[in-house]
Amino acid sequence: MRHLLDTTDLSLTEIEEMISLAMDIISNKKRYAHICDGKKLATLFFEPSTRTRLSFEAAMYELGGNVIGFSEASSSSASKGETVSDTIRIVSNYADIIAMRHPLEGAPRVAATKTLVPIINAGDGGHAHPTQTLTDLLTIYREKGRLDNFTIGLCGDLKFGRTVHSLIKALCRYTGVRFVLIAPNELQVPDYIIKDVLEPGNAEYVQVESLEEVMPQLDVLYMTRIQRERFFSQEEYLKHKDAFILDADKLENAKQDLTIMHPLPRVNEIATEVDDDPRAKYFEQALNGKYIRMALIITLLKWGDNLED
Ligand code: CP
Repeated sequence: MRHLLDTTDLSLTEIEEMISLAMDIISNKKRYAHICDGKKLATLFFEPSTRTRLSFEAAMYELGGNVIGFSEASSSSASKGETVSDTIRIVSNYADIIAMRHPLEGAPRVAATKTLVPIINAGDGGHAHPTQTLTDLLTIYREKGRLDNFTIGLCGDLKFGRTVHSLIKALCRYTGVRFVLIAPNELQVPDYIIKDVLEPGNAEYVQVESLEEVMPQLDVLYMTRIQRERFFSQEEYLKHKDAFILDADKLENAKQDLTIMHPLPRVNEIATEVDDDPRAKYFEQALNGKYIRMALIITLLKWGDNLED
Protein backbone atom coordinates (compact mmCIF):
# COMPACT_ATOMS: atom_id res chain seq x y z
CA MET A 1 0.00 0.00 0.00
CA ARG A 2 1.31 3.46 -0.92
CA HIS A 3 0.18 6.93 0.15
CA LEU A 4 0.61 10.37 -1.45
CA LEU A 5 1.72 12.69 1.35
CA ASP A 6 4.20 14.82 -0.57
CA THR A 7 5.23 15.15 -4.20
CA THR A 8 8.52 13.42 -3.43
CA ASP A 9 6.65 10.20 -2.61
CA LEU A 10 6.48 9.70 -6.38
CA SER A 11 9.44 9.03 -8.67
CA LEU A 12 9.65 11.00 -11.90
CA THR A 13 8.71 7.84 -13.81
CA GLU A 14 5.61 7.41 -11.63
CA ILE A 15 4.63 11.05 -12.15
CA GLU A 16 5.02 10.68 -15.91
CA GLU A 17 2.99 7.43 -15.89
CA MET A 18 0.25 9.23 -13.97
CA ILE A 19 0.23 12.07 -16.49
CA SER A 20 0.05 9.53 -19.34
CA LEU A 21 -2.87 7.81 -17.61
CA ALA A 22 -4.65 11.17 -17.18
CA MET A 23 -4.11 11.90 -20.89
CA ASP A 24 -5.61 8.50 -21.77
CA ILE A 25 -8.58 9.17 -19.48
CA ILE A 26 -9.15 12.52 -21.24
CA SER A 27 -9.19 10.78 -24.64
CA ASN A 28 -11.12 7.65 -23.62
CA LYS A 29 -13.52 8.59 -20.81
CA LYS A 30 -15.89 5.67 -21.44
CA ARG A 31 -13.10 3.12 -20.99
CA TYR A 32 -12.72 4.21 -17.35
CA ALA A 33 -16.39 4.72 -16.48
CA HIS A 34 -16.69 1.51 -14.41
CA ILE A 35 -13.13 0.83 -13.34
CA CYS A 36 -13.93 1.72 -9.69
CA ASP A 37 -17.37 0.09 -9.50
CA GLY A 38 -18.00 -0.89 -5.87
CA LYS A 39 -15.14 1.22 -4.50
CA LYS A 40 -15.53 4.08 -2.02
CA LEU A 41 -13.52 7.27 -1.64
CA ALA A 42 -13.71 9.11 1.71
CA THR A 43 -13.14 12.86 1.52
CA LEU A 44 -12.25 14.15 5.00
CA PHE A 45 -11.97 17.93 4.78
CA PHE A 46 -11.15 19.60 8.10
CA GLU A 47 -10.52 22.83 6.14
CA PRO A 48 -12.61 24.52 3.40
CA SER A 49 -12.23 23.54 -0.26
CA THR A 50 -14.09 23.85 -3.53
CA ARG A 51 -11.83 22.46 -6.27
CA THR A 52 -9.91 19.76 -4.45
CA ARG A 53 -12.84 18.13 -2.68
CA LEU A 54 -15.33 18.40 -5.51
CA SER A 55 -12.84 17.31 -8.19
CA PHE A 56 -11.93 14.26 -6.07
CA GLU A 57 -15.61 13.45 -5.70
CA ALA A 58 -16.34 14.01 -9.40
CA ALA A 59 -13.28 11.89 -10.24
CA MET A 60 -14.52 8.94 -8.17
CA TYR A 61 -18.06 9.18 -9.57
CA GLU A 62 -16.71 9.30 -13.14
CA LEU A 63 -14.75 6.12 -12.39
CA GLY A 64 -17.97 4.39 -11.27
CA GLY A 65 -17.23 4.56 -7.54
CA ASN A 66 -18.96 6.20 -4.60
CA VAL A 67 -18.02 8.89 -2.11
CA ILE A 68 -18.51 9.34 1.64
CA GLY A 69 -17.09 12.04 3.89
CA PHE A 70 -17.44 15.47 5.40
CA SER A 71 -16.63 18.96 4.16
CA GLU A 72 -15.94 20.69 7.47
CA ALA A 73 -14.55 19.63 10.83
CA SER A 74 -17.65 20.99 12.60
CA SER A 75 -19.84 18.31 11.02
CA SER A 76 -17.50 15.50 12.14
CA SER A 77 -16.66 14.17 15.59
CA ALA A 78 -13.45 16.21 15.46
CA SER A 79 -15.71 18.92 16.88
CA LYS A 80 -16.19 16.69 19.97
CA GLY A 81 -12.46 16.25 20.38
CA GLU A 82 -11.79 13.09 18.35
CA THR A 83 -8.19 12.82 17.18
CA VAL A 84 -7.11 12.47 13.56
CA SER A 85 -5.67 9.04 14.43
CA ASP A 86 -8.99 7.73 15.74
CA THR A 87 -10.95 9.26 12.84
CA ILE A 88 -8.68 7.54 10.34
CA ARG A 89 -8.82 4.16 12.14
CA ILE A 90 -12.60 4.31 11.82
CA VAL A 91 -12.97 5.71 8.30
CA SER A 92 -10.39 3.33 6.83
CA ASN A 93 -12.84 0.53 7.73
CA TYR A 94 -15.52 2.23 5.64
CA ALA A 95 -13.63 3.33 2.50
CA ASP A 96 -11.06 1.99 0.00
CA ILE A 97 -9.08 5.23 -0.22
CA ILE A 98 -9.05 8.51 1.76
CA ALA A 99 -8.35 12.08 0.62
CA MET A 100 -7.89 14.43 3.58
CA ARG A 101 -7.23 18.12 4.08
CA HIS A 102 -6.22 19.43 7.49
CA PRO A 103 -5.00 22.81 8.80
CA LEU A 104 -2.16 21.14 10.75
CA GLU A 105 1.04 20.43 8.86
CA GLY A 106 1.85 16.73 9.04
CA ALA A 107 -1.70 15.55 9.89
CA PRO A 108 -1.86 13.28 6.77
CA ARG A 109 1.49 11.76 7.79
CA VAL A 110 0.01 10.87 11.20
CA ALA A 111 -3.06 9.48 9.42
CA ALA A 112 -0.82 7.26 7.28
CA THR A 113 0.47 5.50 10.41
CA LYS A 114 -3.04 4.45 11.47
CA THR A 115 -4.84 3.69 8.22
CA LEU A 116 -5.79 0.45 6.51
CA VAL A 117 -6.16 2.16 3.10
CA PRO A 118 -4.18 4.69 1.01
CA ILE A 119 -4.10 8.28 2.31
CA ILE A 120 -3.93 11.23 -0.08
CA ASN A 121 -2.81 14.58 1.31
CA ALA A 122 -5.29 17.10 -0.10
CA GLY A 123 -3.44 19.98 1.59
CA ASP A 124 -1.91 20.24 5.10
CA GLY A 125 -1.54 23.73 6.54
CA GLY A 126 1.16 25.76 4.81
CA HIS A 127 3.18 22.61 4.05
CA ALA A 128 2.19 20.68 0.93
CA HIS A 129 -0.53 20.09 -1.66
CA PRO A 130 0.76 17.25 -3.84
CA THR A 131 -2.42 16.67 -5.86
CA GLN A 132 -2.40 20.36 -6.83
CA THR A 133 1.17 19.79 -8.02
CA LEU A 134 0.09 16.83 -10.15
CA THR A 135 -2.64 19.10 -11.53
CA ASP A 136 -0.06 21.79 -12.28
CA LEU A 137 2.33 19.34 -13.94
CA LEU A 138 -0.45 17.98 -16.16
CA THR A 139 -1.36 21.55 -17.10
CA ILE A 140 2.23 22.51 -17.96
CA TYR A 141 2.63 19.27 -19.93
CA ARG A 142 -0.57 19.90 -21.91
CA GLU A 143 0.41 23.51 -22.63
CA LYS A 144 4.14 23.14 -23.28
CA GLY A 145 4.46 19.47 -24.27
CA ARG A 146 7.30 19.03 -21.75
CA LEU A 147 8.21 19.42 -18.08
CA ASP A 148 11.81 20.57 -18.56
CA ASN A 149 13.74 23.55 -19.90
CA PHE A 150 11.51 26.52 -19.15
CA THR A 151 11.38 29.56 -16.86
CA ILE A 152 8.58 29.70 -14.31
CA GLY A 153 7.67 32.80 -12.30
CA LEU A 154 5.98 32.04 -8.97
CA CYS A 155 4.28 35.19 -7.72
CA GLY A 156 2.46 36.23 -4.54
CA ASP A 157 2.51 34.56 -1.14
CA LEU A 158 5.43 32.18 -1.48
CA LYS A 159 5.82 31.87 2.29
CA PHE A 160 2.46 30.34 3.18
CA GLY A 161 1.43 29.06 -0.28
CA ARG A 162 1.67 25.28 0.01
CA THR A 163 0.99 24.81 -3.71
CA VAL A 164 4.19 26.73 -4.46
CA HIS A 165 6.28 24.62 -2.07
CA SER A 166 5.05 21.36 -3.60
CA LEU A 167 5.46 22.60 -7.16
CA ILE A 168 9.05 23.76 -6.59
CA LYS A 169 9.89 20.37 -5.05
CA ALA A 170 8.54 18.63 -8.13
CA LEU A 171 9.95 20.90 -10.86
CA CYS A 172 13.38 20.98 -9.22
CA ARG A 173 13.78 17.35 -10.30
CA TYR A 174 13.49 18.26 -14.00
CA THR A 175 16.39 19.51 -16.10
CA GLY A 176 16.69 23.19 -16.99
CA VAL A 177 13.76 24.58 -14.99
CA ARG A 178 14.61 28.13 -13.88
CA PHE A 179 12.67 29.63 -10.96
CA VAL A 180 11.84 33.33 -10.64
CA LEU A 181 10.46 33.83 -7.11
CA ILE A 182 8.41 37.04 -7.10
CA ALA A 183 7.25 38.21 -3.66
CA PRO A 184 7.72 40.92 -1.05
CA ASN A 185 10.71 39.97 1.14
CA GLU A 186 8.42 39.05 4.04
CA LEU A 187 6.52 36.57 1.86
CA GLN A 188 9.44 34.88 0.12
CA VAL A 189 9.75 31.09 0.18
CA PRO A 190 10.71 29.56 3.56
CA ASP A 191 14.43 28.95 4.12
CA TYR A 192 14.00 25.19 3.85
CA ILE A 193 12.84 25.54 0.22
CA ILE A 194 16.12 27.29 -0.59
CA LYS A 195 18.42 25.13 1.56
CA ASP A 196 16.80 21.70 1.27
CA VAL A 197 15.18 21.87 -2.18
CA LEU A 198 16.57 24.48 -4.61
CA GLU A 199 20.25 24.43 -3.60
CA PRO A 200 20.69 20.63 -3.33
CA GLY A 201 18.87 20.33 -6.67
CA ASN A 202 21.34 22.82 -8.23
CA ALA A 203 18.31 24.72 -9.48
CA GLU A 204 18.76 28.14 -11.03
CA TYR A 205 16.65 30.66 -9.10
CA VAL A 206 16.33 34.39 -8.46
CA GLN A 207 14.28 36.24 -5.83
CA VAL A 208 12.72 39.54 -6.92
CA GLU A 209 10.04 41.95 -5.73
CA SER A 210 8.78 43.25 -9.10
CA LEU A 211 6.64 41.24 -11.50
CA GLU A 212 6.97 43.75 -14.37
CA GLU A 213 10.76 43.55 -14.56
CA VAL A 214 10.82 39.77 -15.04
CA MET A 215 7.66 39.32 -17.12
CA PRO A 216 9.44 39.09 -20.53
CA GLN A 217 11.56 36.14 -19.30
CA LEU A 218 8.68 33.91 -18.26
CA ASP A 219 7.32 30.84 -20.04
CA VAL A 220 4.92 30.08 -17.19
CA LEU A 221 3.52 32.54 -14.65
CA TYR A 222 2.06 30.91 -11.52
CA MET A 223 0.05 33.50 -9.58
CA THR A 224 -1.04 32.81 -5.99
CA ARG A 225 -3.34 34.46 -3.51
CA ILE A 226 -2.13 36.04 -0.27
CA GLN A 227 -3.12 33.37 2.28
CA ARG A 228 -5.21 35.47 4.69
CA GLU A 229 -6.02 32.52 6.97
CA ARG A 230 -2.34 31.88 7.74
CA PHE A 231 -1.37 35.41 8.88
CA PHE A 232 -0.97 36.07 12.59
CA SER A 233 -2.67 39.48 12.37
CA GLN A 234 -5.18 41.20 10.11
CA GLU A 235 -2.80 44.18 9.96
CA GLU A 236 -0.04 42.03 8.41
CA TYR A 237 -2.50 40.61 5.87
CA LEU A 238 -3.78 44.05 4.87
CA LYS A 239 -0.21 45.20 4.31
CA HIS A 240 0.32 42.55 1.65
CA LYS A 241 -3.11 41.79 0.24
CA ASP A 242 -2.72 43.83 -2.96
CA ALA A 243 1.00 43.17 -3.42
CA PHE A 244 0.51 41.86 -6.97
CA ILE A 245 -2.43 42.30 -9.30
CA LEU A 246 -1.98 40.85 -12.78
CA ASP A 247 -3.85 42.86 -15.41
CA ALA A 248 -3.74 43.41 -19.18
CA ASP A 249 -1.17 46.23 -18.87
CA LYS A 250 1.28 44.03 -16.99
CA LEU A 251 1.00 41.40 -19.73
CA GLU A 252 2.08 43.82 -22.48
CA ASN A 253 5.71 42.65 -22.33
CA ALA A 254 4.92 38.98 -21.77
CA LYS A 255 5.72 36.21 -24.23
CA GLN A 256 2.97 35.34 -26.70
CA ASP A 257 3.09 31.71 -25.55
CA LEU A 258 3.15 32.49 -21.82
CA THR A 259 1.01 30.10 -19.76
CA ILE A 260 -0.78 31.88 -16.90
CA MET A 261 -1.69 29.57 -14.05
CA HIS A 262 -3.25 29.94 -10.59
CA PRO A 263 -4.27 27.12 -8.23
CA LEU A 264 -7.37 29.19 -7.33
CA PRO A 265 -9.32 30.44 -5.46
CA ARG A 266 -8.44 33.90 -6.72
CA VAL A 267 -9.21 36.96 -4.65
CA ASN A 268 -8.01 39.99 -6.63
CA GLU A 269 -4.51 38.99 -7.78
CA ILE A 270 -5.67 38.41 -11.36
CA ALA A 271 -8.01 41.02 -12.85
CA THR A 272 -11.01 39.40 -14.52
CA GLU A 273 -10.05 41.08 -17.83
CA VAL A 274 -7.18 38.56 -18.02
CA ASP A 275 -9.66 35.65 -18.12
CA ASP A 276 -10.29 36.32 -21.82
CA ASP A 277 -6.59 36.31 -22.70
CA PRO A 278 -5.84 33.03 -24.51
CA ARG A 279 -2.76 32.65 -22.30
CA ALA A 280 -4.91 32.38 -19.17
CA LYS A 281 -5.12 28.66 -18.34
CA TYR A 282 -6.30 28.60 -14.72
CA PHE A 283 -9.80 27.34 -15.44
CA GLU A 284 -8.42 24.55 -17.66
CA GLN A 285 -5.97 23.86 -14.82
CA ALA A 286 -8.88 23.26 -12.41
CA LEU A 287 -10.44 20.83 -14.90
CA ASN A 288 -7.11 19.02 -15.25
CA GLY A 289 -7.33 18.50 -11.48
CA LYS A 290 -10.24 16.13 -11.97
CA TYR A 291 -8.43 14.05 -14.59
CA ILE A 292 -5.18 13.73 -12.66
CA ARG A 293 -7.12 12.78 -9.51
CA MET A 294 -8.88 10.05 -11.52
CA ALA A 295 -5.45 8.78 -12.52
CA LEU A 296 -4.21 9.00 -8.93
CA ILE A 297 -7.17 7.07 -7.48
CA ILE A 298 -6.69 4.28 -10.05
CA THR A 299 -2.93 4.16 -9.45
CA LEU A 300 -3.09 4.04 -5.63
CA LEU A 301 -5.83 1.39 -5.65
CA LYS A 302 -3.77 -0.72 -8.07
CA TRP A 303 -0.62 -0.33 -5.96
CA GLY A 304 -2.67 -1.55 -2.99
CA ASP A 305 -3.91 -4.57 -5.00
CA ASN A 306 -7.42 -3.21 -4.60
CA LEU A 307 -8.11 -2.82 -8.34
CA GLU A 308 -7.55 -5.27 -11.15
CA ASP A 309 -5.20 -4.38 -14.02
N1 CP B 1 -6.55 24.83 -5.41
C1 CP B 1 -7.23 24.43 -4.31
O1 CP B 1 -6.71 23.69 -3.45
O2 CP B 1 -8.51 24.91 -4.25
P1 CP B 1 -9.55 24.60 -3.09
O3 CP B 1 -9.01 25.20 -1.82
O4 CP B 1 -10.84 25.19 -3.54
O5 CP B 1 -9.62 23.09 -2.95
